Amino acid sequence: MNSRIEPLLTAKARGHKIAMLTAYDYPTARLLDEAGVDCLLVGDSLGMVVLGYPDTTLVTMADMLHHTRAVARGAQRAPVIADLPIHSYDTPEQAVANSRLLIEAGADAVKLEGGVSHAPQIAAITAAGIPLVAHIGMLPQSVREEGGYKIKGKTPEAVEQLLADALAVEAAGAFAVVVELVKHDAMGPITKALRIPTIGIGSGPDCDGQVLVIHDLAGLFPWFTPKFVKPLATAGAVIRNAAAEYTAQVHGGASQF
Ligand code: KIV
Repeated sequence: MNSRIEPLLTAKARGHKIAMLTAYDYPTARLLDEAGVDCLLVGDSLGMVVLGYPDTTLVTMADMLHHTRAVARGAQRAPVIADLPIHSYDTPEQAVANSRLLIEAGADAVKLEGGVSHAPQIAAITAAGIPLVAHIGMLPQSVREEGGYKIKGKTPEAVEQLLADALAVEAAGAFAVVVELVKHDAMGPITKALRIPTIGIGSGPDCDGQVLVIHDLAGLFPWFTPKFVKPLATAGAVIRNAAAEYTAQVHGGASQF
């Protein structure tokens, strides 16, 4: 197993809560790495917060490879996990081939969306020696079929299905599982049932770690902030103000530039 992944494998046993953030470019990766973030996710959320698409379903392997290379250049210490985009892992063979490309681009591990339904892909990728993070709960790549970003785990049957998904991805070889937008009181039993860490996003405190989109945390996408995020900075306002000040200075004939 890749040595950069090692601390993530032992985190749950050590009681260390995993702090994961997305990064899509070199300077952000370098800043987050310097800040001590445990791992960086080149999420296909880049389709929305970097490329301006309405959701993640237009993101391609070419996009993911381009951004993974940039993030890998900036991450000196933190392991880099890269998302397999929609339709890049429809079959186990395709999943392995595309995972290899992401690893060659500098990722230490890959992530895909799906539970029981994607156990064959997860088993094939991990059998090829590629570390994998699974992603269950609300699956952004299925947003069009689902008709929106809906909270999961609202009924006992839905919680049973989530538990089955979580156990299936663990059994297939995932070393961690992202659990998105799951009703908070469903998370405790899932986290307890697994040996691998649960990394929540909008799923409450009963997870072994948390992940957020850096643009949401830093206030860098001020036009929309998910309900479960409390931004810790106003980077969007900082950039807008600097640009307005620069424009005013240039218009006023400032010579400092
Ligand atoms: O694409 C992404 O950024 C993700 C996180 C939201 C978990 O999958």
